[in-house]
Amino acid sequence: ETKIWRVAPHNFSIDELQEAAQLIREGKLVAFPTETVYGLGANALDVQAVQGIFRAKGRPSDNPLIVHIASLDELTPLVSDFPPMAQKMAKLFWPGPLTMILPASNQVPAEVTAGLSTVAIRMPSHPVARELIRSAQVPIAAPSANRSGKPSPTTAGHVRQDLWGRVDGLVDGGECTVGLESTVVDVTGDHPVILRPGGITREMLSIHFEGVEVDGEPSVTKAISERPSEATTEHCLLETNGEAASPDSSAPRSPGMKYAHYAPKAPVYLLTGSWKEQVQAITVLLEKETDPLGLLISAETYEHIKHLLPQECGSKYQVRLAGSREDLRSVAYRLFGSLRSFDETPVTAIIAESYPREGIGMALMNRLTKAAGGRIWRE
Ligand code: TXA
Ligand code: MG
Repeated sequence: ETKIWRVAPHNFSIDELQEAAQLIREGKLVAFPTETVYGLGANALDVQAVQGIFRAKGRPSDNPLIVHIASLDELTPLVSDFPPMAQKMAKLFWPGPLTMILPASNQVPAEVTAGLSTVAIRMPSHPVARELIRSAQVPIAAPSANRSGKPSPTTAGHVRQDLWGRVDGLVDGGECTVGLESTVVDVTGDHPVILRPGGITREMLSIHFEGVEVDGEPSVTKAISERPSEATTEHCLLETNGEAASPDSSAPRSPGMKYAHYAPKAPVYLLTGSWKEQVQAITVLLEKETDPLGLLISAETYEHIKHLLPQECGSKYQVRLAGSREDLRSVAYRLFGSLRSFDETPVTAIIAESYPREGIGMALMNRLTKAAGGRIWRE
């Protein structure tokens, strides 16, 4: 049985979260909204509760969890060091969609860190998340509230689809505004290393910090500029995201990056090249493709190809407007919901538009590439 509480994210009283907070304190599982995606929360200091998270999600136990806090005082017992660079980053970007990898204290269960010496910490900005943590009076360990492998949930409805009956409670606080998971930054070294791109972009970090690195990024530039032939493109694309492209490639620094992710039921294929080339590719495909297809495209692309779509309803094409190329945050925020929505349709493949890897575009392309499992659309 999953208990649901509906709360208006900007107009709720503390009382409305009392029961949910109490369940967390008792070691139960409660899903809740954050500004990025919904989290599946449990008391981070309760080993059995944390084990419950892995069971409910079907998550491999070697993939560590993010610990969510509501104020900086809660950080102190969780870490063995809070270096100046991390303090500065917290001042600039917390609360918000940023997770810092810090040296763990011995208070943090190995179930949370998957046995690593570091712990991932985030202070979310969502008012419901903050109040839930505050009222639970314990730090909350929370991965995204999806079954492992599926797109992360950006509405309570998505959480219901995946975890109904598998969790004790669900706080429904409406839609998540960022729509992609937090940026994970390793701040244990001399300069920040982005392990997972997200809402806080490399550009935003680079304004304040020198030598910001993106894990897996140097090979990207190399892979793209030295791309020898069409045939290797697929392989290059896999590498661009710091994913394990082949079994012998070195272990990713963020354990979660090696798993299949965000996959709807039908295979996703990414379009590549300039926007014009992508529009051209869709045009060609609409002229000859006969299978039911899903199209995840920008408003701009839709304008160019809509005259090619059959007018009758129940057409074999399922179009999802991803947002505008002029505003990649609008695309980011719809991505996971759009991917999920194809599961209720008979499409046998999903063709997705690509975007520039700048700003939020880097996180967007990271998730899209994973959803596609590196597949590229070729005629
Ligand atoms: O936006 C978010 O971050 C959401 C919301 C709920 O806060 N949470 C989320 O958690 O996306 P999850 O478990 O789906 O992703 C956590 C990521 C994984 O890639 C994991 O490997 C990485 O953070 N991670 C956790 N602890 C780590 C550590 N000590 N060192 C390196 N990576 C770590
Ligand atoms: Mg996740």
